[in-house]
Amino acid sequence: MRKRLIPLISLFTLLTILVYAVLYYNIHFPIRTIFAENRTNSKYQEIIINVNNRTIINVNNRTERNKEDIMKTLKNAALTSMIVSYNKKENCKMEKLVGRSVVNLNNVKLDWLHENELQFVRQGGWYAPTECRERQTAAIIIPFRNREPHLPIFLRQLHPLLKRQQLHYRIFVIEQTDNSQFNRGKLINVGFNISREFFPYNCFVFHDVDLVPEDDRIDYGCKHSPTHLTVSIDVRGYKLTYAKYFGGAEMFTKDDYEKVNGYSNSFWYWGGEDDNLLVRTKQNNMRIHRQSVDIARYTAIKHTPSTERLPIAEKEKFRFKAGPYNKRDGLNTLQYELTYVKEHPLYTHFKVNLCKERDRLYGVLHKFED
Ligand code: BGC
Repeated sequence: MRKRLIPLISLFTLLTILVYAVLYYNIHFPIRTIFAENRTNSKYQEIIINVNNRTIINVNNRTERNKEDIMKTLKNAALTSMIVSYNKKENCKMEKLVGRSVVNLNNVKLDWLHENELQFVRQGGWYAPTECRERQTAAIIIPFRNREPHLPIFLRQLHPLLKRQQLHYRIFVIEQTDNSQFNRGKLINVGFNISREFFPYNCFVFHDVDLVPEDDRIDYGCKHSPTHLTVSIDVRGYKLTYAKYFGGAEMFTKDDYEKVNGYSNSFWYWGGEDDNLLVRTKQNNMRIHRQSVDIARYTAIKHTPSTERLPIAEKEKFRFKAGPYNKRDGLNTLQYELTYVKEHPLYTHFKVNLCKERDRLYGVLHKFED
């Protein structure tokens, strides 16, 4: 009996050592090999990036225009992000937070900001701690059109905040270039889709560019999902705009955003898309988290309100009708054309055509219009 036990125990010990060795190796070893392959066939181009023989990223790009440039940018950007991220070490703790601060609303040039205050930001508008493992990987998605003066003010406040929170993050500006009405929800869906080609982010923050956080205790790391961030805004008396308000800035883990099927693609004007997103989260039995009104404070940058509004009665009807279509209108029916990608010093810029006509032909859009 004893004779049989000894080999068994030795085998068990050997196996345990082996398991530990494999775990240790995976956690502590830096990058040994990066292998990037660029496959092209007649129609599509595909990029596969392997780090330590594991496929980290697999990019398929089905856009015809500027394909070469877009693919080159994606490939380079993805590679640099990987290099930092895969040198895993100890978990990061937050840097010392400053708490509430006054937002600097002065106009400022992006170049000046980059040279003087935001040198730590890497080309493309990203940062990742190098001494420790990031608290979270987050893509900050900003739907955008005609808001150029707001961007530097917003970036000036947000970049240092995200760094203090020790996130591995990148700021993506998604600009609508077609002439259809502004579609915030669909732009965000596009941002969600393409940002994942840069890095396998876990956390997605959808942020209006005119709302600037006043406090670095507002956690941008998807501690809870979904979270509504813009709880108290100065121009609304630092109170929740209304009980079901879910607009301004909100945050989801990747899985939760996929579960709700993203935003509706069909809100082609100002407003309503956020109310519909709330319905989607409820349909999936999710609870919205909010930090307190004393912490989740935002300053709104002043501008003339959008004129692309539907009359209230129309909007109510539309929101009411949208509910049953949520499973068939969202990430799973997203149609767009990516026409431009550029890594600027403080952000990554996408331009997209949202292809409203295609939605009308193949999507659920017509259902709302009758
Ligand atoms: C709109 C929302 C908007 C909110 C606050 C509501 O009437 O439907 O989309 O976020 O007002 O401005």
